[in-house]
Amino acid sequence: MSTSAADQTAPVTQNNHPHFGGIPADQAPAELPSRQPPRIDQFLLMHSQRLDHWREVTVLAEGWRDGVQRREEVREAFAAIEAVDTYHAFPGARLLTALRDKIVANDPSGAAQLARRISNALLTRSYRDRPSEWEPSADIDPDAVAEVLPPGLDDNEAHRPYFEVLFVSAQPPSRWPLLSDELRRLRRREDAFIYEPVFVGSFEDAICATVANPAIISVVIPEGFPFRSRFDAPVLRAVLESLAVTDDRDTSALRLASTLNRIRPELDIFVLSERRVEDLAGDPVADCVRRVFYAVEEPLEVHLSILEGVRGRYETPFFDNLKRYARRPIGTFHALPIARGKSIFKSEWIRDMGAFYGLNLFLAESSATTGGLDSLLEPTGNVKRAQELAARAFGADHVFFVTNGTSTSNKMAVQALLAPGDIAIVDRNCHKSHHYGMVLSGVQPVYVEAFPMTEYSMYGAVPLASIKKALLALRNEGRLGRVKLLDLTNCTFDGHMYNVRRVMEECLAIKPDLIFLWDEAWSGFARFSPFLRPRTAMGATADIAAWLRAPSSVQAYEAQVRELGENPTEETLLQTRLIPDPSKVRLRVYQTNSTHKSMSAIRQGSMLLVKDVDFHTVEAQFREAVFTHASTSPNQQLIASLDVARRQMELEGYGLVMNAIETALRIRHAVNTHPLISRYFHVLGADEMIPAAYRQSGFIDYLDASVTWADAVRAMREDEFYLDPTRMTLVCGTAGFDGTQFKGLLASEYNIQLNKTSRNSVLLQSNINNTRSDVAHLIRVLVDIARGIDNRLAAGAEADRAAFDARVRSLMKDVPDLPNFSRFHDVFRGDAGETTPEGDMRTAFFSAYDPALCEYMPLFGAECDRRLQDGPEMVSANFVIPYPPGFPIMVPGQVLTPETIEFMRKLDVKEIHGYEKARGLKLLKPDAIESKRNAVPPKVAGRGARAA
Ligand SMILES: Cc1ncc(COP(=O)(O)O)c(C=O)c1O
Repeated sequence: MSTSAADQTAPVTQNNHPHFGGIPADQAPAELPSRQPPRIDQFLLMHSQRLDHWREVTVLAEGWRDGVQRREEVREAFAAIEAVDTYHAFPGARLLTALRDKIVANDPSGAAQLARRISNALLTRSYRDRPSEWEPSADIDPDAVAEVLPPGLDDNEAHRPYFEVLFVSAQPPSRWPLLSDELRRLRRREDAFIYEPVFVGSFEDAICATVANPAIISVVIPEGFPFRSRFDAPVLRAVLESLAVTDDRDTSALRLASTLNRIRPELDIFVLSERRVEDLAGDPVADCVRRVFYAVEEPLEVHLSILEGVRGRYETPFFDNLKRYARRPIGTFHALPIARGKSIFKSEWIRDMGAFYGLNLFLAESSATTGGLDSLLEPTGNVKRAQELAARAFGADHVFFVTNGTSTSNKMAVQALLAPGDIAIVDRNCHKSHHYGMVLSGVQPVYVEAFPMTEYSMYGAVPLASIKKALLALRNEGRLGRVKLLDLTNCTFDGHMYNVRRVMEECLAIKPDLIFLWDEAWSGFARFSPFLRPRTAMGATADIAAWLRAPSSVQAYEAQVRELGENPTEETLLQTRLIPDPSKVRLRVYQTNSTHKSMSAIRQGSMLLVKDVDFHTVEAQFREAVFTHASTSPNQQLIASLDVARRQMELEGYGLVMNAIETALRIRHAVNTHPLISRYFHVLGADEMIPAAYRQSGFIDYLDASVTWADAVRAMREDEFYLDPTRMTLVCGTAGFDGTQFKGLLASEYNIQLNKTSRNSVLLQSNINNTRSDVAHLIRVLVDIARGIDNRLAAGAEADRAAFDARVRSLMKDVPDLPNFSRFHDVFRGDAGETTPEGDMRTAFFSAYDPALCEYMPLFGAECDRRLQDGPEMVSANFVIPYPPGFPIMVPGQVLTPETIEFMRKLDVKEIHGYEKARGLKLLKPDAIESKRNAVPPKVAGRGARAA
């Protein structure tokens, strides 16, 4: 059978299409793991599996050389790899042909040596820098290759970044190597970057390559190519269907361009046409195309445009300028003596700081906003430009860089969008910055509750029905005009992603000008995954905006109006998936993200993204919010890192996020299937994190054997909540550890740091920096701990086993109920509606400043119980926020209930902000506050008094 990448025509009939991680069953040797039934997570493992497959071929070839493997096995494994490699530049047709020839010519030593060479080059990425790696006859010692270090710390500016360009071509595959050579001849020494072409011949193959190969960052599309791939791949079909690419009638370049743009909006796309280029360029769909070329024009122009497009993404205006600034000999007669490092490096006593951080940190420090630097507070130069580039990358209209974390971004957004007396519907379980922002702005919050996950002492996310109920209740009270904002966390700490589009559409159907603030502190990186993007604020906003532009949106709205009638009941509105009126909708969406939490920004680096059609009406307020909250001495390195993080995500974010997802799936699979680890530990699946009622598609989990890729896509599109796979709740209560204890053990004994804890679980987060070695280390550690428990229990007495069981029972069963927000005390209801729960939290907060209006109540005393039973009601004076879980159990002005007190009493955490154990709960005295409020204000001495 011919196995050339150029002429391979064998149809793939299995669900495990090779380009999505598996090997066709008719080609795979029996030993290969991919012969097993394809699991949905296999699709998402395709990148790292490619290396595994090459390793597998190498091992088989070496086995053949050593006489322990048959040639047939090598040939089959290699044939499978060839198909996968169609979408990658390296090893390319020449090396693949050479390897195939060696197998055919019965040359086991040659085959083993070449397979190892290729495999090593892929592993170390040396092919990116060494032209000899591409030569079949190059004399490279494969063992020497193994010593090549991966790109490391000594990378300097002489390094030319490498990328790959996808060329869709109607030419026969046999001509592709020739075309590649022609493109290589266009290279010039002065090119800042270097690229290799990847050729494909159809619409479907172009999509496969874009999905499978993260190194592709530019695409060139001519007119005239077939639709169908040479491979029959149901998995691929499902992906295409999810993108609404279901028929093969239209294979125009623009259609392919817009499909690729939806998958990876950061790609540069160039279209070549031999006719009607003017029409093409003027088509609105061409908005996603960087440039349209008349096809017969000079190929050098295309080459230069590709490089220019990459330069546009590589450019980091603030960072570039800071590097230039650091090189200049600058004398400072200004603050910040640390700048230029002289006080450090000349010091007898603090020189080690200089040695530790290096000279550049100090050369790049400055208090100045002149001399080429810009001001974060009033940007006009390179900060402004860097923010504009970030807006492009993240799909926003405007971006504010923030240097004090998303804690500050949230307060800025709340202050800029809301005035005293405005009502905001807000997740009570959201980060404290929202609550404090509302106190400072005098906003009246209507708290909505996330669904509880009592058994794990954590919350999920807020059901849409609760949000709609809150809006409808406010509407019934005639207070909808006062409601300005819906404020939610997406994804939640524990990985619940909202159906962002649905939430916004249904809310806009009730209040067409409602503003949305999505706190995506944890999931800024999700923008760069086609899989997760639709569930991000900016992804969903783009989808809604496209829907609003389509005439079908008006038809859909009018059909629903006809169906529901003039005055649908509240029940009907709650039961119906509401469609907003496109003629009334004002799409106003804000997102905050802790860039430092999921991308390569320095701690506290955060962004506030704006996609608001009415931004001009609040722009001045945003400027005030920046002046209120931003430091007048923002850290230069932090701003630079935001600029660089954006560059990285635009150029390699897709692969990095895929890596984070792959890492997570590997951990999930390894923990839950390992015979020893799974005896004591377990990573919760989607079915355990999200109640069935919110998984309308019936999706179970990534690891479930019955779930297909199509199921996962449907779940992602339809389900009310979806689990971000990178956030892994590892249950450790079943191993006898509470979360804090287990986190401490991993940190102190095993050098593993992890995210938050609950009573019986810890949260593992995979990220763009994780490697498979990290996964291996974690799995080794869990094996070690599990074995320790096993041995202890086996060697111990019956009493020890009973003690262990009791501890597990206590951690897993004796869990406190999670208390809901009760209500604001009447004194702090302000001018709230009769039946709606908003409150005047600011008055309550500032009342706590007056000791005469406060009292303390020991949490565990009998007096506390008596007050709960007989009154007067106890009212919290401040926020009380235990860590974990990290959300306010009490807010200022909130009436305390037996549930709240019981939860507080059962808390076994050390850190509780707003609660002093020695003095007890700080309470307000509503009567005293009421009396003070009613007292006649004392006469003020001054002009008015004199006049009187
Ligand atoms: C949901 C959420 N929002 C905002 C923040 C605050 O972000 P930062 O640490 O960047 O200030 C956090 C921090 O943990 C968070 O979990």
